[in-house]
Amino acid sequence: MKREIIITGDGSSTIHIPEWNEQYHSKHGALQEAKHVFINTGLIPYINDTNKTEISILEIGFGTGLNALVTWEEASAQNISIKYTGVEAYPVAKEEVEKLNFIEVLKDPKAEFFFKDIHSSQWEVEMEITAGFKLTKQKKFFQDIEDQKMYDLIYFDAFGARVQPELWSVQIFSKMYNALKTNGVLVTYAAKGSVRRAMLEVGFVVERLPGPPGKREMLRATKKLEI
Ligand SMILES: C[S@@+](CC[C@H](N)C(=O)[O-])C[C@H]1O[C@@H](n2cnc3c(N)ncnc32)[C@H](O)[C@@H]1O
Repeated sequence: MKREIIITGDGSSTIHIPEWNEQYHSKHGALQEAKHVFINTGLIPYINDTNKTEISILEIGFGTGLNALVTWEEASAQNISIKYTGVEAYPVAKEEVEKLNFIEVLKDPKAEFFFKDIHSSQWEVEMEITAGFKLTKQKKFFQDIEDQKMYDLIYFDAFGARVQPELWSVQIFSKMYNALKTNGVLVTYAAKGSVRRAMLEVGFVVERLPGPPGKREMLRATKKLEI
C-alpha cells in the first residue's frame, strides 16, 4: 500500500495511508499521543506501581519507532532497563525513516543516534542499542505471536478497528493476555465498546481513561489472574 509522510497537529510527522485514510498516529499530534498513551498512561504508572527497574515491553506495530524512542527517553531519565520487542510485518523503509522529523521535534541530540540505531539494527536478534535498552525487532504477523508470560507491558498500537477489525478481536487479545506476566498491563489509544468487550471476554480488568488531545478516552487492560 502507498505510504506518505505528513505533519500532525503538534508538528511531529507520521505516515499516512491514503487507500485507508489511516495514519500511524493521531493527526492531532503523533508525539503527544505516543507520550500520553504509552508513557504517561502505560510505562510511568507501571514503574510507580511495581518499583521494577527492569521492564519488558511488547509493541504491537513497531512502525516508525516513535514509541520505542519515547520509551528510551523516559526509561533513561528514570534509570530503568528496558527489554523491548517490536513486532512488525511491514517495516518502514530507510527512505521513509529519513523523512521523519522526531529528532528535530524532540531536540535531544542523543536521540538521533538512538533513532538511527533502532532502525538500522538487525531483525530477529536481541541488540543492545544503549546500556539499559535491548531491542528485538520481529518481522512477523501479530496473529503468529505465541509468547507466554514474557512481558510486563504491551503497547497495543495496531491500525484502527475501522480498517483492521480482525486485530481487535478476542483471538488477538487472548494472545496478548497469554503473552503478559501476571499483573502485566496493556495500553491502547482505542476506546471502542467492542474492543473493551473483547478485552473483558479474555479476562482483562479494563479501565477507561482520558485519551490524548482529540480523543475523549483510551483503554488500559490489566491481567490480574492466570486463566
Ligand atoms: C498504527 S501503526 C503503528 C505505529 C507505530 N507504533 C509507530 O509508533 O510508528 C500499525 C502498524 O502495524 C503494522 N501491521 C499492520 N497489520 C499487521 C499485522 N497483521 N501483523 C504485523 N504488523 C502489522 C503496520 O505495518 C504498522 O506499522
